[in-house]
Amino acid sequence: MTQLQQRRLILVSNRLPFQLLEKNGKVSLKESDGGLVSALKSFSEREEASNLFNEKWWVGSADFPQARWDKFTAKSKVKHAFEISPIFIDTKVYNKYYNGFCNATLWPLFHYFPSFVEYDENTFKAYEEVNRTFADKLAEMLRPGDILWIHDYQLFLLPQMVRERFPDATIGFFLHIPFPTFEIFRLLHRPWKEKIIRGLLGADLIGFHTNEYVQHFLKTVRMVLGFDHEFRVVNADNRLIKADLFPLGIDVQRFSTASNLPEVIEQKEQISKNFEGKKIIFSVDRLDYTKGVTHRLAGFERFLELHPEWREKVVFVMVVVPSRQIISKYNERRKLIEEQVGRINGKYSTLQWQPVLYRYSHLSFAELCALYQASDTGLITPLRDGMNLVAKEYVASRADQSGVLILSELAGAASEMGEAILVNPVDKEEVAQAILTSLNMSPADQKANMVQLQKRLLDYDVTHWVNDFLRQLDDTKQQQIAQQTR
Ligand code: F6P
Repeated sequence: MTQLQQRRLILVSNRLPFQLLEKNGKVSLKESDGGLVSALKSFSEREEASNLFNEKWWVGSADFPQARWDKFTAKSKVKHAFEISPIFIDTKVYNKYYNGFCNATLWPLFHYFPSFVEYDENTFKAYEEVNRTFADKLAEMLRPGDILWIHDYQLFLLPQMVRERFPDATIGFFLHIPFPTFEIFRLLHRPWKEKIIRGLLGADLIGFHTNEYVQHFLKTVRMVLGFDHEFRVVNADNRLIKADLFPLGIDVQRFSTASNLPEVIEQKEQISKNFEGKKIIFSVDRLDYTKGVTHRLAGFERFLELHPEWREKVVFVMVVVPSRQIISKYNERRKLIEEQVGRINGKYSTLQWQPVLYRYSHLSFAELCALYQASDTGLITPLRDGMNLVAKEYVASRADQSGVLILSELAGAASEMGEAILVNPVDKEEVAQAILTSLNMSPADQKANMVQLQKRLLDYDVTHWVNDFLRQLDDTKQQQIAQQTR
């Protein structure tokens, strides 16, 4: 990729890598949560990234007012890995876009929750408007040779909007959530369906986490617009567009070396002291109905019911991180989880022991790593998940190669993590059995599985992921140019 060195990389995502908070007139920066942000930030902080591009930009919507941004940039000496270009969007429009079409229509549908989908023409209009605002911003910034990398379902229409204004632009798109089967996708209103697929086909390269998602997408393109494909290349009116799989990796080193950090050591000691003599099962998720938290609790309850010999000998530490709080389905989920935790604890607690230790809050990096390291079992059972980076973080954190991962077969990560105990997350008998197997697994078997899992994580970490995507984007562009000049 020698020719990249003189070029600029422009990342575009709905969320910026940080939030700006203001307290008593003082503005401070808070890193955003979430897989996309942590993956791209890790990559950008690596030396490879600084040598690879002339400049790196990150364009995203601002969830802070313009005045706060101005105050911050005037005073701050913080050097970020990216130049940041925030987009300020009218709050009412943003809410209809984010809480409406993005997270009450696309999110439930793409995660196979069709009965949760809201159909509202106004939220689609807001979605179009926000995508257009992003396109306007990019039109002000783009220069010949720039590489544009657009991320996720909030910006499906953007590739085509940019293409219309810049026919020669180099545009990559990556989807961080599942791409569903056509039978699910077709439930969208007809004009929305067509606009979404046309929007995506504005890109040169479209990346997904798994081969299944690629196949679903290719079939959908044929069914919605009639464009055929060969070897994952779509021919859209003589423009060749590639769709391929790029399973998102993590910054393995960041997690594997965290065991040396003093604050992690301290927290881990505290956890081990608190739960002395007990096995620890751990899970952490954003509060989301897709994460399968209530089913997971049912599996744990069934385990306690079937195996009384384990009562008082095991504790389930379950952390749920607040997310999308305005949307009613999220709030309802929180109530359901809390009722269920209360019920299980009410039924099984003794004076010395509480089976579920539930926490509804954000975790610091040190707390997260300490919990990854101190737990005997990582119980990660989403009902659907594009990838699930928690599973990868858990494995990367096990520097001593102990511990067992129980993973839902409906997470994208399952296709790369066959040494985990794979479960159907809605089957409480299967989850209960997996918990038992994990707690009884010999240290030698734990190690054998962890060695394989860790090796695969290292072979395709976040830097490989970025390099692989950008190299293929470059290749695809070269092939298009060759085809046009033929
Ligand atoms: O998994 C898709 C995703 O958009 C991630 O990129 C992000 O980490 C997560 O969902 C949370 O999204 P939001 O930006 O809505 O908090």
